[in-house]
Amino acid sequence: MGAYVITGGSKLSGKIRVQGSKNASLPILAATILNCQKSRVKNVPEIKDVQVMISILTMLGADITQNGNELTIDTSAVNTWEVPEQLMRKMRSSIVLMGPLLGRFGRVKVSYPGGCEIGPRPIDLHLKGFAALGVKMSESHGFIYAEAGKLKGANIHLDFPSVGATENLMLAAVLAEGRTIIRNAAKEPEIVDLQNFLNKMGCRVKGAGTDTIKIEGCSIADLKPVEDYTVIPDRIAAGTYLVAAAATRGNIVLENVILEHIEPILAKLREMGCRIKTEDDRVELWVETPLRALDSLRTLPYPGFPTDMQAPMMALLATVEGTSIITETVFENRFKHAEELRRMGANIKINGNTAIIKGIKRLTGAVVEAKDLRAGAALVIAGLAADGKTIVEGTSYIERGYEWFDRNLQALGAKIEKTN
Ligand code: EPZ
Repeated sequence: MGAYVITGGSKLSGKIRVQGSKNASLPILAATILNCQKSRVKNVPEIKDVQVMISILTMLGADITQNGNELTIDTSAVNTWEVPEQLMRKMRSSIVLMGPLLGRFGRVKVSYPGGCEIGPRPIDLHLKGFAALGVKMSESHGFIYAEAGKLKGANIHLDFPSVGATENLMLAAVLAEGRTIIRNAAKEPEIVDLQNFLNKMGCRVKGAGTDTIKIEGCSIADLKPVEDYTVIPDRIAAGTYLVAAAATRGNIVLENVILEHIEPILAKLREMGCRIKTEDDRVELWVETPLRALDSLRTLPYPGFPTDMQAPMMALLATVEGTSIITETVFENRFKHAEELRRMGANIKINGNTAIIKGIKRLTGAVVEAKDLRAGAALVIAGLAADGKTIVEGTSYIERGYEWFDRNLQALGAKIEKTN
């Protein structure tokens, strides 16, 4: 099992370019199934989750060439609607393949995605939405069979603005007959990026970024190849590097960010006393005065504070004197990193979905284990801020979402090495 060996205490400094967005790339790659032709997608991060999506699409019959962060995907030969179970198990978000396969073939077979480290993660909102579009579903032996002669546009109101359900229903509704309206839709930037990609392919989607998305169905014959599409930068990767800089009381510049997308994160860093300068697609962070604890940090759907930044922020707040309170409202079980941070001397009490953090002067290095992607990033941040050596085991989780994480941190002056 790979591990990062970190010697803490260096203040991060310098400039790096932020990777493309994992959570925008995955549904966009799934969407390439719809046009039965070529799509060229740029700024796709070289991470494990993208490799899993590429493997799944290839097993479905797609022809994919990869040149660094650029993928050319030809789905004309895709000839099956059964998503391979072993690959589906590797990555929950492959559930978003249900929408485009239903749109293209009128049927799909997927294995039921289990829960994961951060919560039970049901897909009831996805299935309810598909039923509204006229899909008949049955479950047996851990598989979902879904079938619809022809999808029919419908009015769908989501009980919760689920990112995955919004994406899956958009991906199905673009090839449905008539109009679909999704209300209480998720407003994340990744949803807007998916809309823009679909419209570049000839679909007719409006309203992404608001809580009401309108889709005029069309047929495959109306769709065209996507010559060239560039995925948005990863707002969570950007936030992670900024929090790492703050935790080491350093001074870094990030290039290739969309400022509006990271504003919910910048707002909290400013509240803590970080100095922040923004210009075009660049953001600089530095620390001049002692940082302040946060009375309240509440995770919420966008544009609230992102749950994916909760773990990195906990690592930072563990080093800021005073009492901070984090409330996790999106996932039921997303405090696994607290236990590992306590091994490094952090003072954190968990009470239901609330974490009470009493910041200390200095964490101490230890052997800790990443139990999910963002928890792993948080432990690396803690190791950079700690006294002595930290070994973070479970790098495979981190490599699922962060491109060249160790190299980027080395470029910012961190003492971090990957061992196998
Ligand atoms: C997406 O997951 C992201 N993943 C997650 O990022 C992110 O944490 C999450 O959105 C919230 O922002 C990708 O985009 C690939 P949801 P998703 O459906 O779509 C409940 C990372 O670290 N729910 O918005 O699975 C669910 O259990 C990952 O990059 C239902 O109850 O999130 C959760 O509590 C982790 N029924 C809440 O809604 C449903 O049918 C939010 O889930 C669907 C969801």
